[in-house]
Amino acid sequence: MSHETQEKAAQLQAVIEEYKGKPGNLMPVMQKAQGIYGYLPLEVQNAIAEGLDVPMTEVYGVATFYSQFNLELKGKYTIGVCLGTACYVKNSQKVLNALAEALGIEVGKTTPDGLFTLEATRCLGCCGLAPVMMINNDVYGRLKPEEVKGILEKYKEA
Ligand code: FES
Repeated sequence: MSHETQEKAAQLQAVIEEYKGKPGNLMPVMQKAQGIYGYLPLEVQNAIAEGLDVPMTEVYGVATFYSQFNLELKGKYTIGVCLGTACYVKNSQKVLNALAEALGIEVGKTTPDGLFTLEATRCLGCCGLAPVMMINNDVYGRLKPEEVKGILEKYKEA
């Protein structure tokens, strides 16, 4: 276990101790755990279930039901490609495919270096720029699939 992992585990244990036996403790403990780890991998869910003495199925159910909980670690940059109607008819699916290929990951996944998470989104509200993608808060419009590689390079260097 690395020093950082140990430290996080200790922080989580302290949170569990604080909330143990208190009614309605599952949500706050899970929120704090996500604050510590940035997401809720299975081993963290397990530690919570054991620590609070609640069934793992309950922890997992809450983690998957509420969108505030991330089951996977997000990359430094989240890429959202719009698959809303206006973008879709302008080939945003091809843009999304080009990104998946350039990054070597499926939609919904994060690159192993932790840099990019690729997502498909609903209408981003700027249909006039279709097809549109966002990288964190940056908007890219009138995209062509062959442009995405060059755009990714800028973020790799940043
Ligand atoms: S459909 Fe893509 S921005 Fe509206």
